[in-house]
Amino acid sequence: MTTRPPTTNQPPAANQPPSPQPPPTVDRLPASNRTAFLGLGEMGSALPSTPSDTDTGTRGGADREPRPVAVIGLGPMGRAMAASLLRAGHPVTVWNRTAQRASELVAVGAMLATSPAAAFAASELAILSLTDYQAMYDILGTDAGSVLAGKVLVNLSSDTPDASREAARWAAGRGASFLTGGVMVPAPAVGRPGAYVFYSGPRQVFDAHEPTLRRLGEPRFLGSDPGLAQLFYQAHLDVFLTALSSLLHATALVTAAGVPAAEFMPGAMDTLTAIPAMIGDGQDLARSLTAGEHPGNLSTTRMMGATAHHIVATSERSGVDAGLPRAVRAQYDQAIAAGHGNANWTVLYEFLKAST
Ligand SMILES: NC(=O)c1ccc[n+]([C@@H]2O[C@H](COP(=O)([O-])OP(=O)(O)OC[C@H]3O[C@@H](n4cnc5c(N)ncnc54)[C@H](OP(=O)(O)O)[C@@H]3O)[C@@H](O)[C@H]2O)c1
Repeated sequence: MTTRPPTTNQPPAANQPPSPQPPPTVDRLPASNRTAFLGLGEMGSALPSTPSDTDTGTRGGADREPRPVAVIGLGPMGRAMAASLLRAGHPVTVWNRTAQRASELVAVGAMLATSPAAAFAASELAILSLTDYQAMYDILGTDAGSVLAGKVLVNLSSDTPDASREAARWAAGRGASFLTGGVMVPAPAVGRPGAYVFYSGPRQVFDAHEPTLRRLGEPRFLGSDPGLAQLFYQAHLDVFLTALSSLLHATALVTAAGVPAAEFMPGAMDTLTAIPAMIGDGQDLARSLTAGEHPGNLSTTRMMGATAHHIVATSERSGVDAGLPRAVRAQYDQAIAAGHGNANWTVLYEFLKAST
């Protein structure tokens, strides 16, 4: 789906959700909602407890006086980010299309804005955690110019690098600074040791807000191109999503033969974690790919390709969907047909990469 920045006075398209209605203030939320969330469910572990919980916020020059932050978007990720900022003592104003999702945060000190504009007005820095960039345009709509002037937007929503670049231009046209980012851990890990977040955009803007952003996880600044953070985010998620799908496919293969998933999955996890030891560290692999060197002394394309065929055949025989292994088999077939059967499996990269 393409992402469309709205032009001034452009009415929402007919298939877009209606303009957000002002959500109720916290006082109008049912009291039962506020207490029901306390310490329960997925957010229980993310709620503020003691400041020392926020390990990532205590290294590398954290704020002496935590600055106000607005968090727009309260899915699991936005709620975890707001909770982490609250734990670190930041005044946090939140807004979400579905106001009820703010209840547990309000119960522990967040302020619920009655409109996106009110949330932006509450602080210089606004962090957006939405499904995609289109949601940002939907939320800000045609009033963005008056709302955004002088603000710093940090959009940690998923989208394409081009959408990030377009959004940076869109924000600049409305007087706002724009950082893009990608959170590289699941929501419960936000603000905890090991959490990290990619950022790109204007270096001086990043530096000015780095102590606050550190509350979410270790910030990794990639460069001034606003598309870089999403490029890295999507590339990492490419590895992640494909691995997850292969894990599910492999489990379906085993359970189709009547073997319980519990007898297979722990071993499958061992395979996942053993991959770096099998294929070498990233630097070695990068050198080989960059140099175009694929010596076939161990795992040849012919050997691996034969196995790819066996996985497809086993899937088809079991009635398990074979779409994923067929895609893998096609890559090996292509390389072998081009005469690279004796090369290392890394030669597939030559066929996958964009032609230069
Ligand atoms: N969850 C994770 O573990 C994780 C990990 C890494 C990165 N991320 C990224 O973080 C971002 C947020 O993740 P999430 O899990 O919190 O996602 P989510 O559950 O899909 O939440 C999305 C948020 O966006 C809002 N939203 C979506 N479309 C909207 C629209 N048109 N207008 C207004 N609001 C809209 C939703 O509002 P409503 O509540 O009203 O629906 C909700 O607050 C995503 O880009 C995701 O890729 C997530």
